[in-house]
Amino acid sequence: MLSNRRFSVKITLAAAFAAGLLLSTGAIAGSGVTWETDLRRAKNPDTYGNVVMDRATRDSKEVKPVVFAHWTHRSKYSCKACHTDLGFSFKGRTTEIKQSDITAGKFCGSCHDGKTSFGVNECDKCHSYGTPRANGIAEKLKDLPKDAFGNKVDWAKAVKDGKIKPAANHDGTGELKAVEQDIIIPVTKFTPHPPDVMFPHTAHTVQLDCTSCHESIFKQKKGGNPEMNMMKIISGQYCGTCHAKVSFPIDDCFRCHSQPAAVIKEDEKKDEKKDEKQK
Ligand code: HEC
Ligand code: HEC
Ligand code: HEC
Ligand code: HEC
Ligand code: HEC
Ligand code: HEC
Repeated sequence: MLSNRRFSVKITLAAAFAAGLLLSTGAIAGSGVTWETDLRRAKNPDTYGNVVMDRATRDSKEVKPVVFAHWTHRSKYSCKACHTDLGFSFKGRTTEIKQSDITAGKFCGSCHDGKTSFGVNECDKCHSYGTPRANGIAEKLKDLPKDAFGNKVDWAKAVKDGKIKPAANHDGTGELKAVEQDIIIPVTKFTPHPPDVMFPHTAHTVQLDCTSCHESIFKQKKGGNPEMNMMKIISGQYCGTCHAKVSFPIDDCFRCHSQPAAVIKEDEKKDEKKDEKQK
């Protein structure tokens, strides 16, 4: 058993934090928080990270929209393989794809060629929106380290422990070179504030290349993103580009807010007085 007690304590704390945050920022209306990123909605581990692609198929009588599942792909391929090399956007429903592109071996067709995986003629496997899906993430990924959130898989640990080796390139080859630099992002815009954030480059650069983030999401400078705040993150900007949708979700507050909380001076004084009395 994983320490469920520890998790439930964490979750309760997280919920209290979240409630405070939402109250303090005066509700969700107009904030850009959508159904997908609303923290009040329970998430299903089987469908966390799934993207419905319906740009071209929304009004089609011929086929259903496409459902793409990240968890079935991310054990084999890095984010870079698809997002940098094949041109899929980090924002759902924005990549313009036609069936003729797929038949020509672009986008999904780069791998769904009948050799690497099933071919372009198996229409219903991709065009599956609204059809009953074989779920069972828990069974299929049972050998990977567990987590309490998202897909209930600790993907970062799975890579670190070598349980999965997401390839750098879409042909299944290559490895990304990690950059080892932890950056502390102090939380300054809110009092009382949660613990400071630590951003680890290593866990990111084994799956993403520099251009995934620099400069499109983050200025490449410590303290260079002063406009960043928690509401923007929840609504899918900055860290929320990935963590509101595919990587471990925003609900897991203390995985980012991981720095020891500052000791509050007043309490220290009281503690000293207590100690003196006890002597
Ligand atoms: C096998 C290809 C593939 C891999 C690997 C992959 N993605 Fe994606 N990703 C996609 C596709 C396809 C979309 C949908 C794009 C669209 O609809 O325009 C997508 C969309 C997204 C979105 C937007 C989701 C939404 O609901 O708006 C995010 C965020 C994302 N990916 C992050 C990641 C991260 C982080 C990784 C690595 C852990 C990753 N992806 C790995 C193919 C992939
Ligand atoms: C490997 C996955 C995959 C397979 C297999 C596949 N498609 Fe698609 N198809 C897509 C994606 C992704 C889109 C873009 C969806 C969107 O943006 O709405 C698409 C778009 C379409 C469209 C929208 C209009 C157009 O011409 O682009 C039609 C129609 C279509 N597919 C028909 C088919 C048919 C028929 C088959 C089987 C012969 C098929 N697809 C097999 C992934 C697939
Ligand atoms: C980089 C290569 C690659 C790309 C790009 C890719 N796939 Fe796949 N896909 C695979 C492989 C390999 C498997 C088989 C995974 C396994 O069996 O472990 C797979 C499995 C699947 C499955 C069956 C498992 C499931 O999710 O239920 C579907 C459906 C699927 N892909 C849809 C898509 C769609 C739609 C796209 C494009 C939007 C796409 N794939 C892009 C390599 C890719
Ligand atoms: C997942 C997103 C992400 C990826 C991928 C990423 N970085 Fe960063 N990087 C950040 C963030 C966040 C910061 C801190 C910005 C801040 O403090 O406001 C940062 C800061 C930096 C800094 C500034 C450090 C300083 O002390 O001023 C450098 C240099 C840097 N990154 C290099 C890289 C390189 C090289 C790569 C590719 C190997 C890379 N980064 C990949 C998110 C990323
Ligand atoms: C472009 C996508 C992307 C962005 C932007 C991003 N991350 Fe991540 N992050 C990932 C991926 C992929 C992982 C691997 C684990 C996972 O997917 O759950 C990860 C993992 C982590 C981990 C876990 C490390 C470990 O070893 O357990 C932390 C902490 C983290 N991210 C913090 C941040 C913070 C803080 C920011 C914003 C400053 C941020 N991330 C922005 C994609 C992203
Ligand atoms: C993916 C990483 C990540 C996760 C998960 C996360 N935060 Fe944050 N949080 C940040 C970053 C980065 C900042 C911005 C720090 C700065 O620049 O001031 C921040 C700032 C904040 C602030 C300061 C006020 C503000 O708007 O900037 C509060 C309060 C906060 N977070 C609460 C939470 C709560 C509650 C949760 C869980 C529900 C949570 N955070 C989860 C990364 C994260």
